[in-house]
Amino acid sequence: MKTVYTDKVIEHFKNPRNVGRIEDPDGKSTEGSPACGDMVSVYIKVDEETRRITDIKFESYGCASNIATGSIITELAKGKTLEEAKNLSWKDASEALGGLPPIKAHCSVLAVEGLRAAIQDYEEKHGLVKEKVPTTEDIVRKRLRHVMNPLTGLDVVRTELIIKVEVKEGRVTVTVDLPENHQFAAAIKEDVKDKIEPLWDVKEVIVKFEE
Ligand code: FES
Repeated sequence: MKTVYTDKVIEHFKNPRNVGRIEDPDGKSTEGSPACGDMVSVYIKVDEETRRITDIKFESYGCASNIATGSIITELAKGKTLEEAKNLSWKDASEALGGLPPIKAHCSVLAVEGLRAAIQDYEEKHGLVKEKVPTTEDIVRKRLRHVMNPLTGLDVVRTELIIKVEVKEGRVTVTVDLPENHQFAAAIKEDVKDKIEPLWDVKEVIVKFEE
């Protein structure tokens, strides 16, 4: 059978570099692909003075292309400054892999978005975000699209697990359509807090569950 993957893709898929997680990372993200429902997590360590990525790891819950792109993009990003790493595109990843089949473009987009989101997480936590837009319900919902619903593998907004979002004087209240004792309630709560707390004007995040 003729394979559609280049040797480089197969090599990175079989021996992915930088796989795993970093305990106590400086920045991290989990991104889901609207195209296929797969996920990728990216963890970075950053030198505070030079703002260079000193270590980077990823975990992929995606396909071969996603694993190969995660591998190559983390290799490309390691040692780069945050600004340089931000400019890495899926095209750079795909080119470094000798090309990906067009149908698989979204897999590399997912890995690249994971990297960008981890950088953004770092910047928010370190007060490096230049444009300080006040947090609105829309902004919160947009962020919650990166919280996965473990029941479906899709995000909690699209699967209508979020019933209500309220933003008032720095306090964000998110109501989730699950009972508090549900097996995934604690994980979702932690993830919601993780995504919303870094916003510069948010003082408190309250996650409520349905009675
Ligand atoms: Fe989902 Fe590739 S098909 S990441």
